[in-house]
Amino acid sequence: MRSCCLYSILFVLCLLSPVFGAQGNVSQLTILLPPDHSVIESPLVSIVIVTDGTLDSVQLKVNNSEYRPVEKIKRNVCKVVKLEEGLNTVSIKGFKNNVPIEEQKISLFYRSLLSQRNSTAPDAFRPYYFHTRERESKCTFCHDLGQRKANKEPQDVSQSACVRCHEKLLDFKFIHGPASVGECATCHSSTVKGLKYRVPKLEQPLCYSCHSDAAVAWKGKQFLHGPFSMGTCSLCHNPHASDNDFFLRKQTTDLCLSCHEEKATGTHIVSGISGSGHPVRGKPDPLHPGKELSCASCHNPHASDFSDLLFRDRSVGFEFCTACHTF
Ligand code: HEC
Ligand code: HEC
Ligand code: HEC
Ligand code: HEC
Ligand code: HEC
Ligand code: HEC
Ligand code: HEC
Ligand code: HEC
Repeated sequence: MRSCCLYSILFVLCLLSPVFGAQGNVSQLTILLPPDHSVIESPLVSIVIVTDGTLDSVQLKVNNSEYRPVEKIKRNVCKVVKLEEGLNTVSIKGFKNNVPIEEQKISLFYRSLLSQRNSTAPDAFRPYYFHTRERESKCTFCHDLGQRKANKEPQDVSQSACVRCHEKLLDFKFIHGPASVGECATCHSSTVKGLKYRVPKLEQPLCYSCHSDAAVAWKGKQFLHGPFSMGTCSLCHNPHASDNDFFLRKQTTDLCLSCHEEKATGTHIVSGISGSGHPVRGKPDPLHPGKELSCASCHNPHASDFSDLLFRDRSVGFEFCTACHTF
């Protein structure tokens, strides 16, 4: 009962505050989303700003990167920006007649499991989930937030309700088949623990529903790679689009080194012979014409019947080495 009263008082105060605020120091610029001190699990995040209508442009800055000012603004400004791994400061400056009037800042933490230093967020940061009824209700005036049946079928992506807000997810050199045709709901139709569009952590069955060849090839292999056996394929693959082959989150060797840092020292496999170590990149791959040597030239990133996930048995003489060398 007491907390109920407290809420009513707070509610009344909220109603009154714009009236009082108008006389005092009311904000001309509010960052509606994301909330300050959010953990973001993607390099892209949407910033939604509400102004009081008196500003004529705003400028966004992420750490030291300045975005082109958004001119002739109405009340809302929506913009997707790129984050760096770890801690980011997003600052937004509002201008009137080219004079800066107000600046607001928020801190965001881009948590990435491919970065040993940034795989856990500091305590002060909280997870952020956008697609809740309450948050969505602030956007429905201008945006269609209903999931359409069309999102389960190939369609013109420019017509997709999802893509209108998430277009930047697809703005890369290679776009994954189902995402390129706007079939967002193929992977995002579930609600997990009340969270709309949440993809189950165990993604493997979802990916295998189309990649049955891969499922067959990897089934029953004796050695499974640690992260692969967790079933979270999107740890290494971006399910939407990427500038790298196979929609990888990083170029192959960089991807491997993000968890196997010690293999960057260049003393891999042959340190005993020359001391300088075996090359892992920057040379042509003799087994895959047109491709560069990478960690995946010798190791299968998913599964293998040979120890150390090698493509061939190493214990049988020099057979492994002679696949590429004539010595
Ligand atoms: C007053 C109308 C209005 C409201 C309210 C509004 N938006 Fe927008 N939003 C727009 C318009 C118009 C665009 C297209 C802007 C453009 O293409 O430059 C847009 C674009 C976007 C984009 C794409 C931006 C980009 O850089 O690709 C995102 C994301 C977005 N809105 C999210 C939201 C969210 C989330 C909310 C609710 C919290 C919201 N918007 C509320 C009008 C609005
Ligand atoms: C009004 C704009 C808007 C529309 C339309 C929209 N989203 Fe989002 N969505 C967001 C914002 C904002 C976030 C928070 C992450 C970010 O900033 O990009 C988000 C996050 C997500 C997430 C991550 C989990 C979460 O809720 O934070 C998924 C998955 C997602 N959207 C899927 C979809 C799908 C599928 C559709 C179409 C059925 C869709 N979205 C339509 C704005 C939108
Ligand atoms: C609805 C069917 C569908 C689902 C589900 C699906 N894919 Fe795909 N995927 C495709 C199609 C079609 C292609 C081939 C066209 C292309 O390259 O985009 C493809 C290509 C790929 C490729 C590149 C393969 C190559 O040899 O170049 C990778 C990697 C990939 N998908 C990973 C995934 C992962 C990881 C998942 C789960 C998160 C997944 N896919 C789920 C349909 C699907
Ligand atoms: C092949 C399956 C697949 C398809 C198709 C797909 N997604 Fe996703 N999406 C995922 C997975 C898996 C995740 C969670 C993993 C992650 O963090 O990226 C995800 C995460 C997201 C997120 C959270 C931000 C991020 O980058 O992680 C958004 C937003 C999103 N999807 C929107 C979309 C939209 C919009 C479409 C349609 C154009 C789409 N997705 C199509 C599998 C898919
Ligand atoms: C540890 C990182 C990692 C994980 C986890 C991972 N992959 Fe891959 N995947 C790769 C790399 C690297 C390549 C490219 C290999 C190459 O260059 O030959 C690849 C290639 C692929 C290909 C195309 C070539 C092939 O080998 O068939 C498909 C399809 C694929 N992955 C699907 C998946 C699916 C489905 C999952 C989850 C069950 C998954 N991957 C998990 C790193 C990973
Ligand atoms: C997300 C982190 C992560 C990424 C990315 C990653 N690995 Fe691993 N890798 C692991 C873990 C965890 C293990 C198992 C623990 C261990 O033995 O160190 C492992 C084990 C291995 C092993 C030893 C397997 C065995 O049977 O003993 C090899 C070889 C390997 N990884 C190669 C690679 C290659 C090649 C890539 C890039 C395609 C890669 N890893 C990317 C985390 C990762
Ligand atoms: C020319 C082939 C070749 C290349 C390229 C290669 N490896 Fe290996 N790797 C091996 C062999 C052979 C072994 C078996 C153990 C040994 O002889 O040291 C091995 C073992 C491993 C192991 C498990 C044992 C250990 O030392 O921890 C990991 C992890 C590993 N490699 C990761 C990588 C990563 C990451 C890359 C890319 C930076 C890479 N490898 C590139 C051939 C290669
Ligand atoms: C996937 C193909 C591949 C396999 C397997 C492979 N190598 Fe290599 N190796 C290369 C390439 C490519 C080079 C670089 C050649 C050049 O400089 O043009 C190289 C270079 C070397 C060098 C010269 C190193 C230097 O920096 O000058 C030695 C020594 C060597 N390999 C030994 C081995 C041994 C021992 C094995 C077996 C354990 C092995 N390699 C397996 C592809 C391979």
